[in-house]
Amino acid sequence: MLPHPHLTAIAGTAALLCVLTVRVPSNPKTLESQSMFSQTTVPGPVAYSLRKACSNCHSNETVWPWYVHMPVVSLLLTQDVKHARENLNFSDWPSVQKQGAEHTAASFSGICENLLSGAMPKNRYIWLHPEAKLSNSEVAQICSWSNKQQMELLQHSAALPGSLPGSR
Ligand code: HEC
Repeated sequence: MLPHPHLTAIAGTAALLCVLTVRVPSNPKTLESQSMFSQTTVPGPVAYSLRKACSNCHSNETVWPWYVHMPVVSLLLTQDVKHARENLNFSDWPSVQKQGAEHTAASFSGICENLLSGAMPKNRYIWLHPEAKLSNSEVAQICSWSNKQQMELLQHSAALPGSLPGSR
């Protein structure tokens, strides 16, 4: 005998609630003054594109989607964001700068390279967040900014006393 339809509905809702119980991960606390956007000069449109396409993974300001409540999905998303932050975290720029001018310069060039190669943003992310697919002109703006940052850092580090043989 089939259960009463109301019972089925109640059981179904209860099952769904059980599934949607994983807590939303909490973002690490951050000071805006420590972010790449405060620590370096980022033109408005570039900041807008990076926040739109990268910040959910590469910053501490992740806006977690509703499906992060689901087991397994939750694990995949939190691991993804953890790895992304380890590679490049816009929210903690001093820890990038601490590793030296060359490392910081490489972080800037990495942003452009990964965009040009299509490696970033990840396809699976674009699939769920179509707004993260940047236009050619948005990519060009980001690259001209990041190239300039990279050049300035490298020139600066080369200009340090003693780092160039024969310089003054
Ligand atoms: C869905 C999450 C996600 C989004 C969105 C995302 N990334 Fe990533 N990114 C990662 C992960 C995870 C890694 C770690 C390496 C890997 O898995 O490829 C990474 C690695 C990187 C690296 C280091 C790769 C290397 O060469 O070692 C750079 C640079 C990077 N991302 C730039 C960006 C930029 C720029 C954007 C926005 C245009 C972006 N990412 C958007 C998840 C993301």
